[in-house]
Amino acid sequence: MFVIDDVYALQIIDSRGDPTVEAVIITDGGGVGRAATPAGASKGRYESLELRDGGKDYGGKGVLKVVENVNKIIASAIRGLDSSLYRQVDGKLIELDGTPNKSRLGANALTAVSLANVKAAADTLGIPPFQFLGGFKANLLPTPLMNIINGGAHAGNELPFQEFMIIPVGADRFSDALKMAVEVYKELRKYLKEKYGPLAINVGDEGGYAPPMRKVSEALDALVNAIRGAGYSEGVDIFLALDVAASYIYDVSKDVYRVDGRELSSSDMVEYYKELIDLYPIKVIEDPFHEEGFKEFSELRKSVRGRVLLIGDDLTVTNVEIIRKALALNSVDGCIIKVNQVGTLSESEDCIKTLVNSGKKAIISHRSGETEDNVIAHLSVAYETGFIKTGAPARGERTAKYNELLRIEYWLGGEARYAGKSKLL
Ligand code: PGA
Ligand code: ZN
Repeated sequence: MFVIDDVYALQIIDSRGDPTVEAVIITDGGGVGRAATPAGASKGRYESLELRDGGKDYGGKGVLKVVENVNKIIASAIRGLDSSLYRQVDGKLIELDGTPNKSRLGANALTAVSLANVKAAADTLGIPPFQFLGGFKANLLPTPLMNIINGGAHAGNELPFQEFMIIPVGADRFSDALKMAVEVYKELRKYLKEKYGPLAINVGDEGGYAPPMRKVSEALDALVNAIRGAGYSEGVDIFLALDVAASYIYDVSKDVYRVDGRELSSSDMVEYYKELIDLYPIKVIEDPFHEEGFKEFSELRKSVRGRVLLIGDDLTVTNVEIIRKALALNSVDGCIIKVNQVGTLSESEDCIKTLVNSGKKAIISHRSGETEDNVIAHLSVAYETGFIKTGAPARGERTAKYNELLRIEYWLGGEARYAGKSKLL
């Protein structure tokens, strides 16, 4: 009943209006799986390749050739396979592509097909994807790292860091944590409007506000004010997280980072991060150095170990070999997991297992260009990683994930647990 009967793809658009691939898989047991590939704006150099059509339509960003790769090449190769043996299906996709960075068929083709396949298998059984992947014991709802101020490549302002996040931990249930985060988001809106005027409440790609700020400390002060305004305590109920996405502020020719109108060397940056974590309740810093800065990550980690989690994203690009390297060099406390950085769920699963087996964190993440697909909500519960990054509690492509987590919590009833602080430090 799990036999893959039909496979097709179509071109849809993502939250930035750029085309992307949606794949549909139907099993002979009547299961239907539908999944769409997201897209990054601040991509890591070593991510698998996202193929685009080029030419005039959609400014060259069309994916019709990728859709054709699914319809003409992938479909006939996986039809007849058992969708429940998803690692075999993914293996076939990897073999069919045959390149180390998925450049023949496109990581955007493989991602949609790989995810649609597990959804089809779950649907065939009549169970949700998180249970198909995680078994009937999976019941841990993730703590969101919620990006409510956008900067860097995700916004039209001058904030050097890309993401300023809140981590709502002072709750026993995911739904209560989400409520806390929404209250802070609303307070932040008020604060920004009063202090910076009405233009300050425009939002960036991930739904966070994109105020006309220039300095990192302004954004962090705004978060602290909003937390207090909502009646919570920073450092108790709610912690802070940063995604520096430092490759985008790194000047390779001078080996410096441009922050707050200054040029900082790597060792200046270490001091700067230490100051920030002395002043603010920051518990997570993602990509504090550029994407080849394994050594700089380790240096910082030596001096902040036990106080803040250092997370690789552009550094490790959901690539198990690179993650192993980062672990061997003591560069990270955990990594971001984005299926489309590598191309298949199985390879992402290998990354999660490698991290978790070495006592490190795996943070399931969206991309800045998303669709209404909510599969990452399921992945975060299936693997019980305890963390999800899926943006602000606004814009449909972000709320799709939060709302699915609410449904999962409702559905699990008394069995549902909330990760809260447990995986933080
Ligand atoms: P991206 O950014 O999806 O634009 O790559 C997200 C992130 O850096 O975490
Ligand atoms: Zn990142």
